[in-house]
Amino acid sequence: MCGIIGFTGTGDARGIILDGLKRLEYRGYDSAGIAVQNGNEINMVKAQGKVDNLISIAEKNDKLIGTCGIGHTRWATHGVPNDVNAHPHLSEDGKFALVHNGIIENQLEIKERLIKKGMTFKSDTDTEVMVQLLSYNYDGDIKKAILKTMSEIVGSFGIGVLCADNPGIVYTAKVASPIVIGLGVGENYFGSDITAFINHTKNVIDLDDNELAEVSKDKVTIYNYKGEEVKKSIRKVTWDIAAAEKSGYEHFMLKEIMEQPAAIKATIEPRIKDDKIVFDELNIDIKKFDRVLITACGSAYYAGCVGKNVIEKICRLHTSAEVASELRYSDPMIDEKTLVIAVSQSGETADTIAAMKEAKSKGAVVLAIVNVVGSTIAKLADYAIYTWAGPEIAVATTKGYTTQIAVFYMFAIWAAKQLGKIDDKKYVEYIQDIKRLPERAQRTLDLNTKVQKLADKYFHNKSIFFIGRYFDYAVCLEGSLKLKEISYIHSEAYAAGELKHGTIALIEEGRLVVAVCCYEPLLDKIISNIQQVKARGAEVLALAMEDNKKIFKEADDVLLVPKTDDIFMPIIEIIPLQLFAYYVAKNNKCDIDKPKNLAKSVTVE
Ligand code: AGP
Repeated sequence: MCGIIGFTGTGDARGIILDGLKRLEYRGYDSAGIAVQNGNEINMVKAQGKVDNLISIAEKNDKLIGTCGIGHTRWATHGVPNDVNAHPHLSEDGKFALVHNGIIENQLEIKERLIKKGMTFKSDTDTEVMVQLLSYNYDGDIKKAILKTMSEIVGSFGIGVLCADNPGIVYTAKVASPIVIGLGVGENYFGSDITAFINHTKNVIDLDDNELAEVSKDKVTIYNYKGEEVKKSIRKVTWDIAAAEKSGYEHFMLKEIMEQPAAIKATIEPRIKDDKIVFDELNIDIKKFDRVLITACGSAYYAGCVGKNVIEKICRLHTSAEVASELRYSDPMIDEKTLVIAVSQSGETADTIAAMKEAKSKGAVVLAIVNVVGSTIAKLADYAIYTWAGPEIAVATTKGYTTQIAVFYMFAIWAAKQLGKIDDKKYVEYIQDIKRLPERAQRTLDLNTKVQKLADKYFHNKSIFFIGRYFDYAVCLEGSLKLKEISYIHSEAYAAGELKHGTIALIEEGRLVVAVCCYEPLLDKIISNIQQVKARGAEVLALAMEDNKKIFKEADDVLLVPKTDDIFMPIIEIIPLQLFAYYVAKNNKCDIDKPKNLAKSVTVE
């Protein structure tokens, strides 16, 4: 959940690292720090708050001169966010500086051991324990010391290390936290993701678990846990710097909402060949499974809820969606006849990884729907289908979510065909509908101005309900999460038929209810629910399909979205809800791209 960068070369390490930290800030933003090495001296500056606070201090510090260094932007796990707990952490002897992403589970035990040896600690962090252990293990051989330290640590880490005895070299290693190495000319980088250095190089090496990299300006050497050199392949990143910049938009979130037609197209197009769905990456016989279990967290789980409905509806294959943080501890009834689908934008979500491991241990085949190439989830899965959304920087996912749904559509149609559950005519119709999704998403974005006006009307609400049925209910879950995570307004999503079993007690004069009414077969049912909340004083903002005339008589405000087959409505109807959340948050002056208490990839439990 933290951002890490390391650099070594001939340029100004401070400028390069601070610039990288700005790009990485979406990974965590409660404090930040930088350490630069100059000969045998390591100088460090840390600051509570956003990276800009660090920049304003670091830029004035003349000691941060050098061509080699490490930086970090933090999402606190151990210890409150303050200057002392911010990374890098120095060993007591001043020999090592270390930045860390992850959690060290046996830190207390190690700390006690080191205290008994006479070491003292300044911070409350597990990271300081690691750097002290490293210095304790050091006998002049840095590689040996890092490998020994790694072997003693239980937990997850991606680390960057400077050693005062080895000027010009940065070290990085990982277990269950991502590290990518960037290869330049006469300079090299590493980062917790590519955005750290994408403006300098697109040639990368993905570090695997239990590997250590020794990075100097002209050379990168990678070792396995035994200290043996390993050869790694170089991957070329396919997106460029513009994808990781705001390009004139006020926020990444708005840019990413607007990018959805292109992202959906990029996800769909390569997989439709001669009007057939082709998954080159999926060499499985769907007939061998008697059930599908989708697992994920947050919005990815909500995409899975849509996926469950689509797979069950058109494949007639028993499918469930379960939150990964629950599934991992529930001794789930999974066997080799279960296809587990893990969904993740970042590919690094700790609970999803744990749920996948649990599923694999029970013999399931695991398919990942994932955005980040080479991520832990992509590698852990038996099969991976990439969503080609490009980098997503805003903490609130938008194009990550819609491209996951696009993959579910394609997967379900592909599977239904294999299972003989749809005839050729329906198959062709579905494919034509899929091909039209980018254009329909684009037309939905035309609602931008109208949604903004509605947000102006409703942004003062203290509590907002989202109601819908079946497919629409799955979308309400995501619409409500979007609103609460970036605007901090209390919100709940309810299956519309459930309201009367308790929650309707909360409906009162002026309460805003967003009613999603796009699933045509249940239109009359949701209209009854609208009437019930209106009778209790609620104001209703309805989202309906473009030919729906009835709805104007029922709701206070209406947003009409392009019509398509019922199963494809979720990918369209979420777009105005994303825009609504965005403009409500903007009117409430919230920090939209970096909402409080959150971070982009949740690599801790
Ligand atoms: C959504 O806006 C959130 N940022 C969050 O719920 C997110 O979807 C969840 O943490 C899962 O992340 P992942 O897709 O990277 O696994």
